[in-house]
This record gives sequence, C-alpha cells and structure tokens, in this order.
Amino acid sequence: MSSFKANCIFSVLFVVFGAALGFLGNGDTFRRKVSVELNPGLTPPSVLPPGVGLVHVRGLGLNDTLHFLLCNSGAPALLMVHTNSTESAVQVEWPAFINHSSSGSLKVEPQSSVQYSSALVFTRVWEYDDVNNTADPQQAAESSFYPPYELQNFTWSDLTVSVNQSDHTVKLCGGEKTESFLNGSLCLQFSAFESEGREKAWPSLHHNANSSQLRVWLDGVTPRGNDSRFALEFQSVGESGFEGRVDIRSSIDDEYTPSIFKVSQWVASPVNSSGVWGYNQWKPVAYRKPEPVFEDATPCKHSQLVSVNRIPRSGLVQAYFTDDLQTYGLNISFGIAKDPVFYSDTKYVSWTVLVGLGEPPADSFSTLIIVIIAVGLGTPLAIIILGGLFVWIRKRMSHSSVYEPIN
Ligand SMILES: *[C@@H]1O[C@H](CO)[C@@H](O)[C@H](O)[C@H]1NC(C)=O
Ligand SMILES: *[C@@H]1O[C@H](CO)[C@@H](O)[C@H](O)[C@H]1NC(C)=O
Ligand SMILES: *[C@@H]1O[C@H](CO)[C@@H](O)[C@H](O)[C@H]1NC(C)=O
Ligand SMILES: *[C@@H]1O[C@H](CO)[C@@H](O)[C@H](O)[C@H]1NC(C)=O
Ligand SMILES: *[C@@H]1O[C@H](CO)[C@@H](O)[C@H](O)[C@H]1NC(C)=O
Ligand SMILES: *[C@@H]1O[C@H](CO)[C@@H](O)[C@H](O)[C@H]1NC(C)=O
Ligand SMILES: *[C@@H]1O[C@H](CO)[C@@H](O)[C@H](O)[C@H]1NC(C)=O
Ligand SMILES: *[C@@H]1O[C@H](CO)[C@@H](O)[C@H](O)[C@H]1NC(C)=O
Ligand SMILES: *[C@@H]1O[C@H](CO)[C@@H](O)[C@H](O)[C@H]1NC(C)=O
Ligand SMILES: *[C@@H]1O[C@H](CO)[C@@H](O)[C@H](O)[C@H]1NC(C)=O
Ligand SMILES: *[C@@H]1O[C@H](CO)[C@@H](O)[C@H](O)[C@H]1NC(C)=O
Repeated sequence: MSSFKANCIFSVLFVVFGAALGFLGNGDTFRRKVSVELNPGLTPPSVLPPGVGLVHVRGLGLNDTLHFLLCNSGAPALLMVHTNSTESAVQVEWPAFINHSSSGSLKVEPQSSVQYSSALVFTRVWEYDDVNNTADPQQAAESSFYPPYELQNFTWSDLTVSVNQSDHTVKLCGGEKTESFLNGSLCLQFSAFESEGREKAWPSLHHNANSSQLRVWLDGVTPRGNDSRFALEFQSVGESGFEGRVDIRSSIDDEYTPSIFKVSQWVASPVNSSGVWGYNQWKPVAYRKPEPVFEDATPCKHSQLVSVNRIPRSGLVQAYFTDDLQTYGLNISFGIAKDPVFYSDTKYVSWTVLVGLGEPPADSFSTLIIVIIAVGLGTPLAIIILGGLFVWIRKRMSHSSVYEPIN
C-alpha cells in the first residue's frame, strides 16, 4: 500500500519535472560560421559607381551554405541563396554587373548545388496626407498621395565604412536630392547571425542561424503635409513553382515585444506542398524613436499580397535571376486610426523584418514565464502532495499508537 503511494508521488514529480525540462530543453544549438566580404572579386579596372556596393555574407553549415547578398545598385535588395555544399562560391562578372548589361552576371557556383533562392527588394516609400486619420492608405483618397519616393533613384552612403566585420552588420543610408531629404535619410541595417538569439532593441525578434534581419527607418525626413503618414512597399522575387501567403500567428507572451501579441509571416511554399522553404517575418509594430520606450510603439498593418508584372529595378535581382520568375509585393503602413501622433511629431519611424530559410522561428516561452508557470502550478501540487503525506503519516502514527498497548 505505502509503496503504491510513494510510486504515485514519484510519478507526479516525474511528470512535473519532465514537463519543465521539456520546456527548457528545446534550445536550438544550430550554428553557422559567418563571414562578410565586400565586392567579392572586384579588381581594377572595374569600379562601382560611388556609394554602390555588394556585400556577401557567407553562413557556413556542416554540409550546406547560406549566402546573403545585399546590394544598393538600384532599389536596395537582399538575396538569399541556399546550397547543399560547403564549397559554393559567389562569382560576379563585374563589367557586366556594373553595366546591367546581362542577367546571369552574378552566380552562385556550382549552380547544381543551389537549393533555394529568393530576394527581398525595398521599392518605394509612400507618403499620404491622412486628413481623415484612418492610418490606412487603402482608405485614403487618391488625391491625398504625394508622389512616392522611388528607392531605385536614391543615392547612398559609402558601404565600405559601414560594414562591421566583427558583429556581421551592414548599415546603409540614402536619400533623394530634394528638400525633404535635406536633413533626413532612409536607412537599412542588415544583421547576420551565427546562432539563435534576440537583439536587445525592440521588437527583439527571435532569430536563428538560418535568418538575417533588416531594420528600416526613416529619420528626419521633412513630411510634405501636416498629417503625413508613410507606408513602405517591398517586393519578393523568387523562382516560379513557389507560392506565397501571409499568415498571422498569435502568442500569449509579449515579454520581448511589450503589448504585441501577434507575428506576421510571409512564407513561400512549393506549389501543392505545405512545406515552408523561406520567409519574411515581422511583428506588426513600428517605433517612433531611435531608442523606443513603450509610448513610442505604433501598430503597423500590411496590405494584401499582389502579383507584380515587372521585375523590380534592382541591379542584384536583375543580375542573379535569369528566367522563370515571379514577383509579389505588399505595403506596410505605419500608425493606427485616430492616432493623434503623426510622423511630423517625432520625424522618425523604424520597422524590423527577419529574412530566412525554412520554417520561421517561433516564440517559445522564456525561462521567466516557465518559472511563473512552474510556481503557479507547482505550489498547489506541492500543497496537495505535502498534505497527503501529512495525513498518511498521521494515520500511520495513530495506527501504531492503537497497536502499541498489545505489545
Ligand atoms: C546535413 O547536416 C544535417 C545536420 O546538420 C543533417 O540533418 C542532414 O541530414 C545532412 N544532410 C546531408 C545531405 O548530409
Ligand atoms: C558599358 O556600357 C557602355 C555603353 O553601354 C559601353 O560603352 C562600355 O564599354 C560598357 N563597359 C563594359 C565594361 O562593358
Ligand atoms: C545537392 O543537390 C543536388 C540537386 O539539387 C543533388 O543532385 C546533389 O546530389 C546534392 N549534393 C549533395 C552533396 O547532397
Ligand atoms: C475622407 O473620408 C470621406 C468619407 O469617407 C471620403 O469621401 C474622403 O475622400 C476622405 N478624404 C481623404 C482625403 O481621404
Ligand atoms: C528614377 O530613375 C529612372 C531611371 O533610372 C528615371 O527614369 C525616373 O524618372 C526616375 N524617377 C524619379 C522620380 O526621379
Ligand atoms: C563593430 O561592432 C562591434 C560590436 O558591436 C563594436 O564594438 C565596434 O565598435 C563596431 N565597429 C565599427 C567599426 O563600427
Ligand atoms: C535642415 O537643418 C538646418 C540646420 O539644422 C535648418 O536650418 C534647415 O531648415 C533644415 N531644413 C529642412 C528642410 O528641414
Ligand atoms: C537551418 O537549415 C539547415 C539546412 O536546411 C537545417 O538543417 C537546420 O535544422 C536549420 N536550423 C534551424 C534552427 O532552423
Ligand atoms: C501646416 O500647419 C501650419 C500651421 O499649423 C500651417 O500654417 C500650414 O499651412 C500647414 N501646412 C499644410 C500643408 O497644411
Ligand atoms: C498542383 O495540383 C493541381 C491539382 O491537384 C495540378 O493540376 C497541378 O499540376 C499541380 N502542380 C504542380 C506544380 O505539381
Ligand atoms: C502600395 O500602396 C500604393 C498606394 O496605395 C499602391 O499604389 C501600390 O500599388 C501598393 N503596392 C503594393 C505592392 O500593394
């Protein structure tokens, strides 16, 4: 009888600890060796136009390589190429690449090792006068739109000074030669990662060794209206045979991104298959200050995916992809209806997206939340177990006291 009870207690404890370890034990140990090079193989007499550069980030796995290429010739673009070889290399025919004279001037060799490629291109910044304060460009009258800023026509800061080899980041700022950009710029910060983790800065997206991150911000741009709001248009170029969709996932845990309980992800799956091969993932939040506090968060919203007929004007995309392409685009608009704060109040807005291979990372419960759950569930359990033990010991003691006189 008593051994049965002890067994029960042990199995309850086993289940509790097992569950806790299960939560804690899902740590992701996958790593890549990351290296960054600027303009791979560029030698005189080939020279790039001022401010233009091509950054190659190699993420070496045990039996594969994940290449990221970032380029600001034309609209800024990030190309991701996954190969099943550790020897794959980027080959650029520089004269043709500089001249945009032929597609196929940038290759990842051997081409037979390429498993998946896709590119993300930032094409336009839209500005509209939100007189009705809907924060929704789709509800705004056509007349309230200003001419969009075409990112393909921007001039950029020099890439050589902004590549950081030690923390695998690249920063790129650019603008137009107009009044609006006199004191302002649009900036992109690219980061590659060797292993799983989160950046300290909000939204602290959960990255891993198969992902990279782009933070985009508009700083100090003079708005053209008093009630101006902005939207960012981006396009994704991929091989045909894949289809895209945007999913919204919910989470009950907002520990890393306060007050945000959703994650949006634009995933690419082969036609007729449910497997996900690549993704762009973001949280629907933008920040109105470079170092945000809670009050500076503002929701953002994405439009429907639309098919785009023309390949975007990005030197990188035009040089890499040869045929059988498909391009989809969407807009991310910043702000929420009836929000009294417009862009002109802080002259700043930033938004962050992860670009990666395979299934997008999911938020798992943090150690803090697990401890809270464990204490919340564990305390009543411990009371029940201790109570049971106490009753059992008292029963035994009273039994022995009953039998004592017979001895
Ligand atoms: C490549 O390595 C991964 C683990 O890192 C393993 O799961 C996979 O089977 C390997 N693939 C091949 C083709 O060897
Ligand atoms: C680039 O194109 C220009 C005109 O289209 C041509 O004159 C020049 O020779 C080309 N340069 C190279 C390196 O192909
Ligand atoms: C890499 O993938 C190609 C097909 O995409 C395949 O033919 C080749 O055998 C693979 N190589 C390795 C080392 O798995
Ligand atoms: C404001 O809302 C009204 C009514 O919905 C609409 O007719 C009008 O076009 C809107 N104005 C702008 C500038 O969007
Ligand atoms: C952008 O540049 C293209 C050529 O590169 C030119 O045709 C177009 O007019 C420019 N657009 C703006 C708004 O300057
Ligand atoms: C590169 O990043 C490291 C770590 O964040 C930082 O300490 C260093 O100052 C950076 N270097 C440059 C040149 O910005
Ligand atoms: C740019 O900054 C200068 C000095 O800070 C200021 O005088 C000027 O008015 C600003 N221009 C715009 C368009 O904001
Ligand atoms: C990253 O991708 C490689 C190759 O597809 C895969 O073996 C590995 O499990 C992935 N790691 C993560 C954390 O998704
Ligand atoms: C913006 O507001 C100022 C003062 O509030 C006003 O003088 C100006 O005309 C407004 N500009 C526009 C474009 O509405
Ligand atoms: C996908 O499935 C449909 C119908 O099930 C079929 O007609 C089509 O050919 C399939 N496409 C591919 C790429 O397998
Ligand atoms: C983005 O929004 C603008 C303005 O509403 C629209 O003209 C454009 O087609 C949109 N782009 C995409 C890719 O949906």
